[in-house]
Amino acid sequence: MVDVPTKMQYVKFGNTGLKVSRLCLGCMGFGDPKWFNWLIEEKESIEVIGEVYKRGINFFDTANCYSNGKSEIILGKAIKQFNMPRGRIVVATKAAIAVHDDMSFNPAPRDDPNFVNRFGASRKHLFDAVDESLKRLDLDYIDLYQIHRFSDDVPLEETMRALHDIVQSGKVRYIGASAIPAWKFQKANQIAEKNGWTKFVSMQNLYNLIYREEEREMMPYCEDSGVAVIPFSPLAGGILARKPDVKTSRSDHANRIKSVYVKTREEKDVDIIVDQVVAIAEKRGVTPAQVTLAWELSKPYVTAPIVGITKIKHLDDLIGGLDLELTKEEIEALEKNYYPRPPMPFGF
Ligand SMILES: NC(=O)c1ccc[n+]([C@@H]2O[C@H](COP(=O)([O-])OP(=O)(O)OC[C@H]3O[C@@H](n4cnc5c(N)ncnc54)[C@H](OP(=O)(O)O)[C@@H]3O)[C@@H](O)[C@H]2O)c1
Repeated sequence: MVDVPTKMQYVKFGNTGLKVSRLCLGCMGFGDPKWFNWLIEEKESIEVIGEVYKRGINFFDTANCYSNGKSEIILGKAIKQFNMPRGRIVVATKAAIAVHDDMSFNPAPRDDPNFVNRFGASRKHLFDAVDESLKRLDLDYIDLYQIHRFSDDVPLEETMRALHDIVQSGKVRYIGASAIPAWKFQKANQIAEKNGWTKFVSMQNLYNLIYREEEREMMPYCEDSGVAVIPFSPLAGGILARKPDVKTSRSDHANRIKSVYVKTREEKDVDIIVDQVVAIAEKRGVTPAQVTLAWELSKPYVTAPIVGITKIKHLDDLIGGLDLELTKEEIEALEKNYYPRPPMPFGF
């Protein structure tokens, strides 16, 4: 079912033979508002996923921990409800962060004896987690299985061997990683190569106009080695999609995340970049979100940004801007006010 004319483009997923839509739908916004208050619930979420699919997006990113499993359940139901051919869609999920019974958001409970072995990148946990995700998604296999965060106390050899065995079992087609320092990501792939195990084919990292630290090491490594790059929060949770003073259901939360991930000297260090986005949007007669996305897509190493969509008007806006090309001068103007930030925290 793809019955709406779409401007969607499909691209090769790094060095693999897989094809994904140029935009990936992030499914963190679907689930239970007790997890984060801006989330939309099941019925509305399924409707949004259906509209997204109709417009040509075939690539979906979720995680076992999003709304403590609810996001995976919703995605699985939408796939069934809209009869999405399994061979056409690419389903990505992640593991390593704990899935709680209590819906309220909690960081990984490192010291809680009830959670021993129930999170992290150990062989034991990954084997359990993949089965639980398959059950929630109600699918026979996952296309892209990603390590959400690595565990400092689990040898990389153990994680890579476990992921290889999961691929061999037929439960997963490709593996990827998220939010890890470049040296460790490269080392993990070296370990896999040395042992003839499955290598990571993708990197899901925070990358947008207000957090560009990945341009130092990770992006050059991925470009050089043919690893697909699927940045998360390309609009910085909405901060780069509107004027700084506009309030939305998510803006307070987005600002809190900004202070965790994007540590600036002063608040105005972000606003000055947002002001440039807005100025270019006004000059070109497009929206700020379209300008931000066009900047991200101008980078040759970016395969498919993972956008957060909970409103159809946002979806149409982003798809409508897919052809927008920025000039060299506009890109320079967007980038010139950035200065280095401390790296985002990679662990939990
Ligand atoms: N691997 C990781 O650690 C990690 C971490 C975070 C996210 N992710 C993944 O990345 C996905 C996307 O993350 P994200 O939601 O932070 O991405 P994002 O695309 O940067 O932000 C999405 C937010 O931007 C606003 N927005 C979207 N389109 C817009 C438009 N056209 N015009 C105006 N505003 C627009 C909306 O906020 P308002 O509703 O406030 O307008 C929306 O909630 C998640 O769903 C998840 O799959 C992964």
